[in-house]
Amino acid sequence: MSVDVGVAPARKAKNFPLYQTLTRFVRDPLREIQRISNAADGQVARLDLGASRPFIVTHPDHVQQVLRTESEIFVRDGTFWRPLHGLFGDSIMSEYAEWEVSKRILQPVLSTKTIRSLSEHMASTIDQAVGELAGPAREGRPIEVLPEMGRIVNDTVTRVLFGDKIRQAEADRLIPAMEQLATSIAFRFLLPFVPKSIPLPGDRAFAEGLRAMDETLFELVDRFRYDAGEGYDIFTALCKARMTEGSGLDDTWIRDNLLAMWATSTETTTVALTWIWPLLAGRPDVAGRLADEVRAVVAPGEAVRPEHLSELPYVRQVVQELLRLYPVGWIFPRITLKETEIGGVRVKAGQTVLISPFLTQRLESVWEGAAEFRPERFAPDKARTYHRYAYFPFGGGPHQCIGRHVFNMEAELILTSVISRFTPQVQPTEGPVEPRIGATLRPNQPIHMLLHPVEGR
Ligand code: HEM
Repeated sequence: MSVDVGVAPARKAKNFPLYQTLTRFVRDPLREIQRISNAADGQVARLDLGASRPFIVTHPDHVQQVLRTESEIFVRDGTFWRPLHGLFGDSIMSEYAEWEVSKRILQPVLSTKTIRSLSEHMASTIDQAVGELAGPAREGRPIEVLPEMGRIVNDTVTRVLFGDKIRQAEADRLIPAMEQLATSIAFRFLLPFVPKSIPLPGDRAFAEGLRAMDETLFELVDRFRYDAGEGYDIFTALCKARMTEGSGLDDTWIRDNLLAMWATSTETTTVALTWIWPLLAGRPDVAGRLADEVRAVVAPGEAVRPEHLSELPYVRQVVQELLRLYPVGWIFPRITLKETEIGGVRVKAGQTVLISPFLTQRLESVWEGAAEFRPERFAPDKARTYHRYAYFPFGGGPHQCIGRHVFNMEAELILTSVISRFTPQVQPTEGPVEPRIGATLRPNQPIHMLLHPVEGR
């Protein structure tokens, strides 16, 4: 892989033969990209992968230009989005007019006001799902963190997506099928330039997952075809829109949007909530302060309620800092519709620009002590001093994550619920736990954790 850290528009990227660059990149892609980002230190850099030569843009001013001020030039199209379009169709994850329709319908469903209406439902689902950890805790049996966080998140997201319209048996079929889709897309996501006619690992699992998911989803759509009923959930909003907006929106549009919402909401939240435990284990002082705050607000035996959250400012800080180090939607590309300049570098129409909160948020010139987990950065008196695009785990501009309020509420409720009942103890691992590149940033090995029940709780 070659890097061209350029300021002069005429400067050309240096090329390496594809086989050399690909082997280095494939061996440890995240480390390689981070090395390049650190070397460029905020200047526009260019990756040379042979078949594709995207720019990497990390400086907060440049990120702002791409995501916000020139968002009409930098669009979600091109090679990197192709596999996602095959998956999500003309849904909220697309671009242009098709995206606008879904955005107009879905954004209000996820506003802070509507989420507040769903929050009681979410909190009781979380209380029940976290309660299931009491068994292994009592028996002194360590849990595997990622699947357990996944179970809690899946139960919660199912409520946000379907309210009480989905039956337990349907949820039990849907959840594994959706999970299979989310994990089997990884190779297509990483190698978007490989044509569909060339098989990749995960293709078969993907097709199976899609079949299983479609069976359940289309059954549900059929049941509510003529009467969407009431509810603050996403499914109801989509069914109502199809009824009122006419023939443009069909069953497939509902399926595509449900799948898009599922994929964007479960994997991201699960992976983020997996990283929190090793981070806390590395900072016992932070873990102690967190436990003190939570246990002073949530009484023994009491279920966590949405009203508790306003009394838990440190929980919020911890979640914010978690997403600085592990912004699980870690990289997202744009394609340029018309020639422009970023930081003095000419970017022509049709070229790809990569935006990565992971890289920007780990730049030493942007965040002092960038590699360290320090929730104090987000203390109320400090939180506003950084550049808007020094911290953008949810993106920005027109495509800014519409699920950020759901995530914040869900993550804070889950973290509070676990800490109010248990003292976690992460088990030693063989070698350091590192993020592994993929659609999100899963850990490279399983993380196990003992949960010690807190006395009297
Ligand atoms: C840790 C949690 C999450 C992270 C880090 C995250 C990150 C992001 C990012 C970076 C984008 C912008 C993508 C782009 O500009 O191309 C995005 C978009 C989106 N996110 Fe999230 N997200 C999270 C949770 C959620 C949740 C819980 C939901 C749904 C309930 C959700 C739904 C969406 C949707 C629908 C979009 C597309 C918005 C649009 O294009 O208009 N996300 N997310």
